Amino acid sequence: MRGALLAAAGVLLAASAVLAQDPDLARRQAEAAAAIAGRAEEETVLAEGEGRSEVFAYCTVCHNTALIRRSAFTRDRWDELMDWMAEKHGMNPLEGEFRQAIVDYLATHYGPRQRGPRGGNPFLD
Ligand code: HEC
Repeated sequence: MRGALLAAAGVLLAASAVLAQDPDLARRQAEAAAAIAGRAEEETVLAEGEGRSEVFAYCTVCHNTALIRRSAFTRDRWDELMDWMAEKHGMNPLEGEFRQAIVDYLATHYGPRQRGPRGGNPFLD
């Protein structure tokens, strides 16, 4: 048991020595992870239409589009959700024409009637 603990401590020491030798390692790993995550989704996962680029750019800062694609909300509900996201989750508040464009897009393409025959499962789209 003691031997195993010592071995584990040794591994940790060796790992921290590697990190100490290469201070850029953590940064490069973070960049690589971001690059992979960045490739995971493209704008075209969202329904085509006016406002799609804006929605994709603005809304995927914190989460991917699965939350959007699985939703089927009325325009009012989408509109409220914009305030909820800003108040509860720190999204930059959406205002004016930009807000209209985003809510219009969401209500048009992810409204209650747009749910497909598969129930809007984002994993099947
Ligand atoms: C600042 C971060 C942030 C931004 C930007 C953001 N969201 Fe969210 N959103 C969240 C968080 C946090 C949740 C809650 C996630 C959870 O419950 O797992 C969430 C949840 C959601 C949900 C699920 C709500 C529900 O009740 O099912 C939807 C839909 C959604 N966001 C849509 C959007 C849209 C559309 C945009 C762009 C206008 C957007 N989000 C931008 C942080 C953000």
